[in-house]
Amino acid sequence: MGKLLLGLLIVLLAVQASEGRVRRHKWDVKYEYKSPDCYEKLVITVNGQSPGPTIRAEQGDTVIVELKNSLGTENVAVHWHGIRQIGTPWSDGVEGVTQCPILPGDTFIYKFVVDRPGTYMYHAHYGMQREAGLYGLIQVAVPKGTSEPFSYDADHSIVLSDWYHKSAYQQAAGLSSIPFVWVGEPQSLLIQGRGRYNCSLVASLKNAAGTGSICNTTNPQCSPHVTIVVPGKTYRLRIASVTSLSALSFEIEGHNMTIVEADGHYVDPFVVQRLFIYSGETYSVLIKADQDPTRNYWMGTNVVGRKPATPTGAAILNYYPNHPKRSPPNMAPAGPLWNDTAPRVNQSRAIKAHPGYVVPPPQRSVRVITMLNTQNRVNGHTKWGVNNFSFVLPHTPYLIALKEKYVKHAFNPTPAPDSYSPADYDIFRPPPNPNASLSDSIYRLEFGSVVDVILQNANSLTANNSETHPWHLHGHDFWVLGFGHGVYNPVKDSSKLNLVNPIMKNTVPLFPYGWTAIRFRADNPGVWFFHCHIEPHLYMGMGVVFEEGVEKVGRLPSSIMGCGQTKGHRSP
Ligand code: C2O
Ligand code: CU
Repeated sequence: MGKLLLGLLIVLLAVQASEGRVRRHKWDVKYEYKSPDCYEKLVITVNGQSPGPTIRAEQGDTVIVELKNSLGTENVAVHWHGIRQIGTPWSDGVEGVTQCPILPGDTFIYKFVVDRPGTYMYHAHYGMQREAGLYGLIQVAVPKGTSEPFSYDADHSIVLSDWYHKSAYQQAAGLSSIPFVWVGEPQSLLIQGRGRYNCSLVASLKNAAGTGSICNTTNPQCSPHVTIVVPGKTYRLRIASVTSLSALSFEIEGHNMTIVEADGHYVDPFVVQRLFIYSGETYSVLIKADQDPTRNYWMGTNVVGRKPATPTGAAILNYYPNHPKRSPPNMAPAGPLWNDTAPRVNQSRAIKAHPGYVVPPPQRSVRVITMLNTQNRVNGHTKWGVNNFSFVLPHTPYLIALKEKYVKHAFNPTPAPDSYSPADYDIFRPPPNPNASLSDSIYRLEFGSVVDVILQNANSLTANNSETHPWHLHGHDFWVLGFGHGVYNPVKDSSKLNLVNPIMKNTVPLFPYGWTAIRFRADNPGVWFFHCHIEPHLYMGMGVVFEEGVEKVGRLPSSIMGCGQTKGHRSP
C-alpha cells in the first residue's frame, strides 16, 4: 500500500515536471529613432530594443507573449521561427496564413509550447517588416539533468542581419512598381544589432531633430558589439541570421569553430574556419579562447553569393581582462570570394545528424512535389514564383478560411501544381516566356503522409545568373536528403539521397542552378507557409502554403479574427 502511494506520488511529480513552466513576456512594439550603424532611421523595437529581448525557456515550457502594437499607424504579426506550434497553429504569427494582423493599439497574446531544445528566432511576419528590426533569439535549454553531446562554459548570442537605410515601405513600393526598383545591396551588416556605416557619405544630411548630422560615428549605439571570453574557456555561440537579403559568411580571427547544432538539431560535429549562414538558419558553434590573451580579435561577417557592395560587419571578441573596446590590431576579416559556391555547398552537404541523435527518415514518400524556382513577369511586374505561379496572400487568412464554415471562396481552390515540365524548360537560360500568373492556391497534404519536396533552381531573368534561396518551412522540421547541381533526375538522383543520417532543419539553401531535396511528415494539423526567407523574394511571390489535417485543429481563438470575411467574428 505504502509502495503504491509512493509510486503514485512519483508519477504525479514526473507529470508535473514534464509539464514545464510558464514564461510570460510583455512586449511593447514601437518605432523609435535609432542608429544601429551610426545612421539614424526609424527602427521597430521590442521594449526599446532591436534585436528584441532573447526568449529563454526550457524544453516543455509554455511561452506567453503579450504583444502590444504601439506602432501607431501600422499592423504587425510575429512569427516564432523554428517552433512547430503543435496544437497551436493559430500562434504561428503569419499574417494572412494563420491570423489577421494585430491592429495599432491592440494587444495580442501568443501562447505556445517550446517542445524541443535548441536555438530559434522570432521576427515580424507582416509585409517586409522584419527588416525594420523586429527580430530576436529564442533559446530553449534541455531539461535540468539532461546533458547535450558537447560541453561549454557559457553561451553567447550572435544575431546577424543586413541593414538598409530605406524604409521597408520605400522598398516594398519599389518592388511593386513599374519600372521595377530593386532594393539593392544593404548599407551595413549588423552583429547583435550593431554595425558601422561610412558617415562621410552622408555628411550633409541632418538627423530627425535637426540638431546634428544624420550619421555620427561616435554614437554609442553603433559601437561594435563585444563578446567577452575568459582565456582557456570554451564558448557556445548561438548564431542566427535574420537577414533580409544576404547570405553571409561568419568568422573569428584566429579561431576555428566547431559546428554542433543547426536549427535545433545536434550536428555530427565538424570544424570550420568560416560558417556560411543563410537567412532563417541558426547554428551553434563551439569556440575555445586559446589564442594570445593579450589582445582582442575581430568577429567578421561578409556577404557571399551576391556581388558585395557592403562593408564587413565587425564585432569584438574580447579576451578578459583586456579593455572591451580595444580594437584588434588587424583589419576585420574580408571574407571569402563571394562567387565561389563550392565551399558553401560543401558545408551544407557536410551537415549530418549527430550519431546519437539520428531521427531516421521514412524510407519512402507518398508524394513528390517538384518546385521550379523562377523569376517571372506578371503584367509587367517582376515577380518570383514556383512552377510559374507567383504567390499572393488572400484577404482572409487560410487557417480561418479552411476551418470556419462561414467563410466562402476565400482563395482559389484549384490545387497548386506538383511539378513543372522539365522537357520544356532549360534551367540554364533565362525563361523564354517569363510570364507567370498570380495565385493564392495551396497544397493540401494527406494527414500523416510523407512528402518530398524537390526545390529546383533555374536561371533568373538575367542571363548567367541564378541565386541562392533559403527555403523555410513553418510547423515542421524536415530531413535534408541532398543537394545537387543541374536538373534533378528522379531516377538517378533519388538513389543518392541520404536516408541514413540526414540532419533535420527548418531552413535550407537552394544553390544556384542546383536542386535541394527534403522530406517531411505532414503530421501537424494546421496551415503552414513554405517560402524563400529572402524578404523581397517572398514579397515578390516566392512561397507556397501547405494544409494538413485542418479538421483536427482545435477551436480557433477569436483573437486571430477581424479581417476579410472574419470581420465581426472577433469577440472581446
Ligand atoms: Cu522566418 Cu515565414 O519565416
Ligand atoms: Cu529567394
